[in-house]
Amino acid sequence: MDIIQSIKEKFISLYGQEPFLARSPGRINLIGEHTDYNDGFVLPAAIDKAIYFAAIAREDKEINLFAYDLNEHYHGTIDNLVKSGQHWPDYILGSLQQLQLAGHKLNGFNAVIGGDVPLGAGLSSSAAVECASLFAFSKIFNLQVSKLTIAKDAQRAENDFVGVRCGIMDQFASVFGKKDHVIKLDCRSLEYEYLPFKLDNIKIVLFDTHVKHSLASSEYNLRREQCEEGVILLKKQHPEINSLRDATQHMIDEIIKPVDEVIYRRCSYVVQEIARLQAACTDLKANDMIAFGKKMYETHAGLKNDYEVSCKELDFLIDYVKPNPGVLGARMMGGGFGGCTINLIKNDALKKLESEIVPAYKKANDLDLKIYEMQIENGTEGISVMQ
Ligand code: GLA
Repeated sequence: MDIIQSIKEKFISLYGQEPFLARSPGRINLIGEHTDYNDGFVLPAAIDKAIYFAAIAREDKEINLFAYDLNEHYHGTIDNLVKSGQHWPDYILGSLQQLQLAGHKLNGFNAVIGGDVPLGAGLSSSAAVECASLFAFSKIFNLQVSKLTIAKDAQRAENDFVGVRCGIMDQFASVFGKKDHVIKLDCRSLEYEYLPFKLDNIKIVLFDTHVKHSLASSEYNLRREQCEEGVILLKKQHPEINSLRDATQHMIDEIIKPVDEVIYRRCSYVVQEIARLQAACTDLKANDMIAFGKKMYETHAGLKNDYEVSCKELDFLIDYVKPNPGVLGARMMGGGFGGCTINLIKNDALKKLESEIVPAYKKANDLDLKIYEMQIENGTEGISVMQ
């Protein structure tokens, strides 16, 4: 039985009714890393792995949640949204809180959540949970929440309730994803453009390190602070600067370099990455995937040496594929300190590489490597299930 059918059947066995079912996918990001919270650009896409949220409204204020994959229940009330102590319900409770803050009067509900987005792999399962639940709440409570508001509320839920200061990329990609397209998103204006990304002879492949180092979220928040410090330094001489999006390499060289070497490297990476993404989009439009792939390697070098969010397992995977002419580009993806690398691999090189990299990774790191070949799919939607 597939995952959707299983979730639906679990719902019926728990609550005795047919649910409304929402699907919201995980995401990949081709280029533009750690640029979203600096008002820059990103180039993500929604994937063929998703979170499903089955729900129905109640007459009273009770919340009944069941996590299918974890086999865990949560019970609460809509009038008292506080951290659950179980972690996974917090993404849903935080989303409900955003709806309440927007003035919506909510009843209780019954729900089952589950999916096939690998957890801790940097594919934004948390954004998918937030967006699937918000989409379902909008439907079952008839709130007519727009797609953009879902993405923004989902980000705020994570910032304010869960406590991770993430940018808008993951939630935006989950909601606005489009089959066989990447989204060029301006994270300042939230204007976006879909660029076709269906390559006949190239596959998007993720290598999952199977590690998530514990400093990931504290270092993430620290990187944000370091970028903000950079902006404060620049502002002293250029009051018009509001984010690193407004800065140039020349300004950073002149103003930050003499004062703080670490902040200098952080800011240099961000400014270069924003420019690199623009150039990579030109490559993509010209169908020059060799040039595009080269920029992915440059991004990895910047994330490793200047932004310092990589780790030895990720670096091993990049060093391993780099000499292979069948791999056009590769880099670590997402926040860093574990998770996946994203690789553009020629079809005819894929099988051999996959069979070699798994034992090599095991030997070097004593860990199992997981491989996901990705398809780009549509974003958040309601789905109907055949009986
Ligand atoms: C995480 C965050 C995103 C983004 C990336 C890095 O995935 O949730 O907002 O900042 O890291 O690009």
